[in-house]
Amino acid sequence: MKSIEFEHPLKNRSSPVELSEEDTITGAKIYDLFRERLIRGLAWNIKNGVVTIPKKASETKDTIIDGLNTEEISEQLARVIAGFKMVEDFLPDYMGKGNKLVRNNMGLFMTNLQWGREELQHSLALGEILEQTGHKTREKTIEDYQRNLGRTLELPYSTARQIVIYGAFQERSTYLGYMALKKRAEEENAPKTAKILGYIAGDEAYHHAGYTELARIYHQTDPEGTVIDSLYIARNFKMPAEEYHPDRWQWKKDFIEVCAFSKKLVAEEVVHHTLSAFRFVPEQEASKTANEFLGKKSLN
Ligand SMILES: [Fe+2]
Ligand SMILES: [Fe+2]
Repeated sequence: MKSIEFEHPLKNRSSPVELSEEDTITGAKIYDLFRERLIRGLAWNIKNGVVTIPKKASETKDTIIDGLNTEEISEQLARVIAGFKMVEDFLPDYMGKGNKLVRNNMGLFMTNLQWGREELQHSLALGEILEQTGHKTREKTIEDYQRNLGRTLELPYSTARQIVIYGAFQERSTYLGYMALKKRAEEENAPKTAKILGYIAGDEAYHHAGYTELARIYHQTDPEGTVIDSLYIARNFKMPAEEYHPDRWQWKKDFIEVCAFSKKLVAEEVVHHTLSAFRFVPEQEASKTANEFLGKKSLN
């Protein structure tokens, strides 16, 4: 009998990696920041229609939001919530591609894992709202999620620094979106839904602040390049749902009506706000870029 040559699957499976100077320096600094301030404790528990948010150090008990099934929300609010969930549900791409991109950056990799866990809890909580208020069945949640996987989301930029900067703008915009959804839920007399949306908005604000600090670390390492990247990304800022929603026109109409987004709001509250928050972009450049954005983008 002919003998088959067998090579163990773990043999020769490793290749050498050389860390760049940027990853070595920023990786260590981001690790320090993560350990000191960014690391977070327990994640939300989302089970059988109940959302439990672990208490902060300043609180005495966990926040438990149940009885969501007694609330009603409008079709339009449900559609916008489903649109936000669709963006959250690209997590396999954000994590798969993002983790590859930050593989060599010690702190950024750790930060990314925590970020991904938090985005996952948003998706689960939004799913809970839609199911408990009777807008989706569990089967429909699964069907929509899997249909969403039918195309990839590509990362908008190719370097870790650019993704960090983009993240600061994106998270600011997402924060404003969830705050608007929260307000709308309050107007529709759905306080439990509003409460969950408010907690999600809190996470997004925290993500914005975190990415802003990470951008400052990149700025310490390469001031000029970081400013150039920031201005370019600001000028070209776009929300992922604009590109990916299967019914783009309906989405745009609902989003503008429910969240009251306008290009002026994005120019001032996302583009200008984030450039100023970095603290390394001169005010004159920040205003000029926000005006340029206002001149060329069309959100409505
Ligand atoms: Fe999120
Ligand atoms: Fe986020």
